[in-house]
Amino acid sequence: MFEAATATAALIRKEIPEAPEVAMVLGSGLGAIAEAVRQPVALRYVDLPGFPEPTVAGHGGSLVLGRLAGRRVAVMQGRAHYYESGRADGMNLALATLKELGCRRLILTNAAGSLRDDVGPGRLMLLRDHINFAGVSPLFGLAGNARFVDLVDAYDPAACDKLVALSRQLDIPLAEGVYVWFCGPHFETPAEIGAARLLGGDAVGMSTVPEVIVARLLGLKVTALSMITNLAAGMSTEPLSHAQTMQHATAAAGDMMRLLTAFLEDSGDD
Ligand code: HPA
Repeated sequence: MFEAATATAALIRKEIPEAPEVAMVLGSGLGAIAEAVRQPVALRYVDLPGFPEPTVAGHGGSLVLGRLAGRRVAVMQGRAHYYESGRADGMNLALATLKELGCRRLILTNAAGSLRDDVGPGRLMLLRDHINFAGVSPLFGLAGNARFVDLVDAYDPAACDKLVALSRQLDIPLAEGVYVWFCGPHFETPAEIGAARLLGGDAVGMSTVPEVIVARLLGLKVTALSMITNLAAGMSTEPLSHAQTMQHATAAAGDMMRLLTAFLEDSGDD
C-alpha cells in the first residue's frame, strides 16, 4: 500500500547495524529524548524519501536510530502536522518505513492543552482514546478493504495498564484520558473547548490522531502520551502561544523521559 517505503527502508538499513523494534515520535519540546539514544545514527528527513519536512520551531527533522533503555529504537524527532499542508497523510510513508524496518510498536508523544482543571501545565497524560474533531483521515484516497481500520483499543490497553503501574512506582502523576484532535494551526475558541469538554475530551492538540490511524492500518501497537502545556482556551487567563507550549513541554520532559525509559525497559519483546 505504501510502496515507496520499501526503498527508503532499504536506504536506512544500509546505515544502521541493527534493525529497530520500537518507533517513537517526539512532540514539541521533547527533542532531548533523541539525544539520550546510545550509538546513535542520525539521518535527516530531507535525505529520506517520504519523510516529512517539519516547519515548526522545536521540531527537529531527523530520524535517530540506536539504543534507548537497552531497546532498539527509531526516534522521529519532529512530525508532519495536518495544518502544514492541509493533508492528513504526512506521516504515512515515514511510519510505513519504520514498520518495514521491523518496528512493531509505536510510541507517540505530543504537547497538548488540558480540558481538565485538575490537570495543569507540566503534567503527563496517557491517551486511552481520541475524538477526531478535524474530521479528516490519513487514509483518504487509499484503495482496498484494509482502509476500513478498526479503532477499538487503538491505544494498546495492556501498554496503558503497564504505564499506569510504572508511573505509580516512579511517583510520576499520570492523568489518563481522551485526546481531541483539532486541525490547528490556530488555537481553539473557548466555545470549541466547551464543546470538547462536553463530548468527553480530556486533552486537545493538533497532531497524533492521524499517526494512530495509519499505525493501526500498519498493525503497529500504539501508545500515546501528552505533555500538558496549558489549560485549553477559555479555562485560564493566560494567553495561548507556541512559546508557552515550548516552555512547559521542556519542564515536563524529564518525567516523560523517566516514564518512557522505564516502559522500554519493562516491555521486553512484545
Ligand atoms: N490546543 C491545541 N494544541 C495544543 C494546545 C492547545 O491548547 N496546547 C499545546 N498544543
